[in-house]
Amino acid sequence: MIGGEVSIKNVSKFFDDFQVLKNVSLDIKKGEFFSILGPSGCGKTTLLRVIAGFEGVESGDVLLDGKSILNLPPNKRPVNIIFQNYALFPHLTVFENIAFPLKLKKLSENEINQRVSELLSLIRMEEHAQKMPSQLSGGQKQRVAIARALANEPRVLLLDEPLSALDAKLRQELLVELDNLHDRVGITFIYVTHDQAEAISVSDRVALMNEGEIVQVGTPYEVYESPVNVFAATFIGETNLMKAEVVEVEDEYYVVESPGIGQFRCYRDKEAKKGDVLLITLRPEKIRISKREFQSGKIFNVFHGIVEEEIYMGHQTKYFVRLDEGYIMKVYKQHARYILDEPIIKWEDEVFITWNPDDSFIVEVLEE
Ligand SMILES: Nc1ncnc2c1ncn2[C@@H]1O[C@H](COP(=O)(O)OP(=O)(O)O)[C@@H](O)[C@H]1O
Ligand SMILES: [Mg+2]
Repeated sequence: MIGGEVSIKNVSKFFDDFQVLKNVSLDIKKGEFFSILGPSGCGKTTLLRVIAGFEGVESGDVLLDGKSILNLPPNKRPVNIIFQNYALFPHLTVFENIAFPLKLKKLSENEINQRVSELLSLIRMEEHAQKMPSQLSGGQKQRVAIARALANEPRVLLLDEPLSALDAKLRQELLVELDNLHDRVGITFIYVTHDQAEAISVSDRVALMNEGEIVQVGTPYEVYESPVNVFAATFIGETNLMKAEVVEVEDEYYVVESPGIGQFRCYRDKEAKKGDVLLITLRPEKIRISKREFQSGKIFNVFHGIVEEEIYMGHQTKYFVRLDEGYIMKVYKQHARYILDEPIIKWEDEVFITWNPDDSFIVEVLEE
């Protein structure tokens, strides 16, 4: 199958007075696994429905391989959509469900048999061909729905939170399978989810969306490591946000003074001058924590505090460390004991934390 290239150009859409899509532009490449990530209600489903042709727009355009598809009805667009709730025909077998769109196209019985067998093998469900949907697990139903959506050989597959009805473990498994399937079929996937872990783990690129607007587009690494604003920094993963005033401008770093923390160095990734107030982000996993004092090198940030709360999370522990000047810093610590005699950190322990100044950087310049 061949993937299509999708261009969304300045699309705006209203429901009465409410603007659900605000000048949305996206360029999705041929064969890409592209995710649209955002909180519930931000307009993700509406955007997919616009691409599929179930919703019109007030302004803007949607192009497939360079040609506008806005005037094509849904069934004439080489695009197919998969919803959260499988939507299989309950009175048809797995085989008949997948064959359904092929029968509509009036393919011969031979062609249909051949094509359905290929699709069944693609989703590894050959032995379930004669089962009814009610006899399948949630994961199997969703795989059949995907096979049925692929039967017409669309150029683009739109997936609207297809895994959200499944439990966490199965979601993980199916996500990996979806990723493999994407590699094998080669068509463009546009995957909508509100789950940041899902979007981050399989996508080639992610568009972060909030209140009808595209906030940031980038690789999972880019959107996680270099969030462009507070929304991006806090929606994906967890972070420490710190307000701080620039007290010194160095070549690579700013020395800043933050209420509740004190002075530290942060990366100079945006232009600011002495006296400007910045909002700085620092991910909890970038911080080291120990009961022993760190060698405080020239540029490193070292602070002392008390563990105010400790949350055991299985693979790691999350500490809330109250620094001497009052700020509460979130710190993750993996359970590998790098140094065998490293003392275990508990609630109310006195601790030291440190981080590389490169890992604390400006999200926004608040006041100049
Ligand atoms: N047919 C509709 N009429 C009026 N408002 C709608 C309609 N569909 C969605 N909305 C509103 O548009 C916003 C975005 O909805 P939706 O695209 O479903 O968001 P998401 O998929 O990101 O959760 C929501 O506030 C929702 O209530
Ligand atoms: Mg939705």
